[in-house]
Amino acid sequence: MEDRNNQAAEPLRIAFVGSECYPFVKTGGLGDVMYALPRALIKQNCDVRVLLPKYSCIPQKYRDQMVYRGSFMMDLCMDGKTFFVGIMELVMDGVTYDFIENEEFFSWGNPYTDLVADIPKYCYFSKAALAVLNYLEWTPNVVHCHDWQAALVPIYLRTHFANTPVGKAKSMLTIHNLRFQGIYGIPHIKYWTGIPGYVFDYPFMKQGKDDANMMKGGLAFANCITTVSQTYAGEIQTEFYGEGLDPHLRYHSVRMRGIVNGIDVELWNSRTDALLAAKYDENDVLEKKKANKLALQEKVGLEQDENKMVIGLISRLTNQKGLDLVNAAFAEMIDENTQVVVLGTGDVYYEDSFRYYESIHKGSVCAYISYNEALAHLIYAGADALLVPSLFEPCGLTQLIAMRYGTIPIVRETGGLKDTVQPYNKYTNEGNGFTFEDYDAGVFLNTVRSAKEVYFEDRESWDEMVKRDMAVDVSWEKSAKDYRDLYLQLSK
Ligand code: ADP
Ligand code: GLC
Repeated sequence: MEDRNNQAAEPLRIAFVGSECYPFVKTGGLGDVMYALPRALIKQNCDVRVLLPKYSCIPQKYRDQMVYRGSFMMDLCMDGKTFFVGIMELVMDGVTYDFIENEEFFSWGNPYTDLVADIPKYCYFSKAALAVLNYLEWTPNVVHCHDWQAALVPIYLRTHFANTPVGKAKSMLTIHNLRFQGIYGIPHIKYWTGIPGYVFDYPFMKQGKDDANMMKGGLAFANCITTVSQTYAGEIQTEFYGEGLDPHLRYHSVRMRGIVNGIDVELWNSRTDALLAAKYDENDVLEKKKANKLALQEKVGLEQDENKMVIGLISRLTNQKGLDLVNAAFAEMIDENTQVVVLGTGDVYYEDSFRYYESIHKGSVCAYISYNEALAHLIYAGADALLVPSLFEPCGLTQLIAMRYGTIPIVRETGGLKDTVQPYNKYTNEGNGFTFEDYDAGVFLNTVRSAKEVYFEDRESWDEMVKRDMAVDVSWEKSAKDYRDLYLQLSK
C-alpha cells in the first residue's frame, strides 16, 4: 500500500555529487555506490542526476555518448577569478549523468593526485555542481553529497546559493571514509572557495591552529549526515575510529544515521557474469566453482588443482585493509594445500611484500599488483574464501560480492563487516563467514585456520555455507528505501 502511494506521488528529485562513479571512473567502493544507489533509487520513485568531474581518464566510449548541454563562466576564488564550466550529459538506464568539464582541473589521468592539486579541484567541483543545477533549472529536493570531495556543497548551498533556486534543496552528506577529510591551511581554502569568513570558525571548518577541514565544515552544514553502516556510525564517535573528528561527530550525532551499503545484484551476478569461466547459481555452484578455480589458477600462474583451497584478497593496498595482519601471518597461511591470490595496488611497502611472498612461494601465491575489473570477477567466483581483515571498514563491498558468489568471507568485526557477516557457528551450522575481533596477527591466523579446518575436514558444512551465502540479500533494495525515507523526511 505504502509503495503504491509512493509510486503515485511526484518523484523525489535527488542530485548526487561525488568524485567517482563506475563505469566511468572507479578507484574503490565509492565508485560502486555512486553507480548502484541511483539505479536502486529509481525503483523507489526517485529522479536521480549524478554530477561528476569529466576526468580525462573516462573511457572514450562514454565520452562519445555524451551530449553538450551548455557552458558558462563561474567565479570561484576570493579575488573573483572566473573559470569555465562545461556540461556534458549522458543518460544510462534511467539515470542522468552530468559531467562537469574544465581542462584546468580535470585533465589529469587519475581522479586524485595530491592535496595541493586536489583541494582547488574539488572546491571548483563543489561550487560548479550547484551552479550546473541552477543552469539546468533542475532544483532537487535533496543534494546528496559524498565524502570530502563534495563536502563543500552543503556550505555553498547555505551561503553563495542560499538565495538561488538550488538554495531550496536540503543537503545530505555521506561519509564513505572518514580517513580522508580535505584539510589544508585556512588562507589556501579561503582563497579557493571564496566562502564567507565565519565558516572558518571553530564550529565549522577550523581545525587546530591554522587549518580548514572541508569534511568538518560539510558535516556542520549538512541537513543530514549518513555513513555506510550502523556500526561505523557508532565507531566514528570514538577516539580510535574518529580520525580526530569524534567530538564534532558526537556533537552532530542527532543528525547522523548509518545505512548499510548494498551491491548492484545485476552487475554482480554469477548467473549472467560474462567474465567467469563458468556461470552458476546455488544449484550448481559447487561444480562450477571448480571450473572457475581452475581458470583462475591458470590465469594467475598458480598450480592448477581443484582440491586446493584458494584464498583471495581484492583490495586497495593500504593499512586500512588490515594488511599488516596478512603480512605477519602470510607464511603460516600457506601450505601444500592452500593458495593465496592478491589483487590490488597501493602502498609500495605492501605491493613489495606480496611480490616477495610470490617469489618464495611460486605456484602457491600470486601477487597481481594492478587494478583489474575482469580478474576481480574471476577471483570472486574462483576463490573459496576472501580475506577482509580491516583495521577499520566503513562498510566494505568485497565481502558482499564474495558472499553473492558463494565465496566465504574471513573478516574482522568492524564497521560494515560486522553488520554484514554473521560469524559461523559450528554447533548450530549457522553464519556466513569467519570473523574475529582483536586486531592481532595471531587471532587473525587462528581464524584463517578455523576456516581451513572446516574447508578440509567438514566440507559438507562448508558447502552449506556457500549456498547460504549466495542466498543472503546483499542488494540495495532495503537500504535504498531507507535513503528514500530520509530524503522524504528532509524535503517535508
Ligand atoms: P574501498 O572503497 O575502501 O576500497 P570497498 O570494499 O568498499 O573498499 O570497495 C572496493 C571495490 O573496489 C570493490 O568493488 C572491489 O572489487 C574493487 N577493487 C579493489 N581493488 C581492486 C583491484 N585491484 N582490481 C579490481 N577491483 C578492485
Ligand atoms: C569507502 C570505504 C568502504 C566503503 C566504500 C563505499 O571507500 O572504505 O568501506 O564500502 O567507501 O561506501
